Amino acid sequence: MLQTPAVSRSGDVPVENLTQFEYLALNSPLNLADGHARQELTPAQSKVIGELPDMFAEAAERPVAEIEREACDMFFTALGQRSHPSAGDRVLSCYSSSLAMEIYARSLVTGTDAIALIHPTFDNIPDILRGVGLRLVPVEEEQIHDADLTPELLASVGAVFVTTPNNPTGRVLGEERLRRLAEQCAEHDVVLTLDTSFRGFDPDAQYDHYEVLEASGCRWVVIEDTGKLWPTLELKIGWLAFSANAGLPLAKIHSDILLGVSPLILLLVRRFAADAAEGGLTDLHRFIAENRAVLRTRLADVPDTWFVDEHSRVSVDRLHVGSRLGLDVWSALRSHNLYALPCQKFHWARPSEGDHTLRIALSRSPLSIARAGQALRSVLLEDG
Ligand SMILES: Cc1ncc(COP(=O)(O)O)c(C=O)c1O
Repeated sequence: MLQTPAVSRSGDVPVENLTQFEYLALNSPLNLADGHARQELTPAQSKVIGELPDMFAEAAERPVAEIEREACDMFFTALGQRSHPSAGDRVLSCYSSSLAMEIYARSLVTGTDAIALIHPTFDNIPDILRGVGLRLVPVEEEQIHDADLTPELLASVGAVFVTTPNNPTGRVLGEERLRRLAEQCAEHDVVLTLDTSFRGFDPDAQYDHYEVLEASGCRWVVIEDTGKLWPTLELKIGWLAFSANAGLPLAKIHSDILLGVSPLILLLVRRFAADAAEGGLTDLHRFIAENRAVLRTRLADVPDTWFVDEHSRVSVDRLHVGSRLGLDVWSALRSHNLYALPCQKFHWARPSEGDHTLRIALSRSPLSIARAGQALRSVLLEDG
């Protein structure tokens, strides 16, 4: 099969990043490209949405700082982060985690010109960091998980950035590894930065990170995100949490950009997080596990094809398409109106490492997953 160059929304410009691939899928009924939650609301979530007019009235009446503190406490605690700092003190609310990332990057570059970044990871992270002029040093995911970082690496950068669980691999930084990494960062006065946007999907990522970070004495920043968990139509909060000794102008740059987020969205997050704590999170884990099982079972006997991240629990799954090219399979799927995500751009330092993988989103209705499994199967068998 010939490799078809991907083009943009307007059909005439080459696709340059993962989000542009995701745009192409937005209006398709079989959009398994972006990692945003697009499944149906659960009955408990529908009940919350039914109460939006009352929540609007509540949001208009109450002090924003109070609502913000409650939403932050409820969300962080639901995900096991009991030792988190308070909103308004050392947690800044943003419209999205990308905005939190932009504020972080602009702050960091005031004190350093280089950052060590996990490889692979979602490409808007390296793009935002490069966008402010930082030099990126790739650190392989295995290296972060398996051993200490070298003193030479730590001496050459002002920060280390880890996405955990990682997108697209789902790999989680365990408590002992986080403790050691934080100790190393403290020793070298390097800012340890975590993007935990996918934390809610994996109980292994829900140990109390803030307790470990605070105990280490390192300078740290964490980006938390409500946006990947629930089908709230892009109503979401990105939170920028940081240590008292971070020494970065985060609050100033946050205030350069925004006054605050909508108290209505904060109330919505508080209610969805309360439901998550009362069993909604366990239901979500079961839902994603079932969708993953349906997809994997459908493709189990397709030759020269396998799922890469055996133990992943996040809401995406990577499929290795063997000797086929991911972009060819992506093009063939597109002719069936099914959209997945070719993986080259996750490998931001060496894109060819993603030539043979596709990422498939699992936060979709079970029917979409079953249809997608069938279409993938046909395309892969044709091209086997
Ligand atoms: C790990 C990670 N962080 C941040 C983002 C950005 O999220 P948003 O588009 O909601 O700002 C993404 C997007 O998929 C992501 O995968």
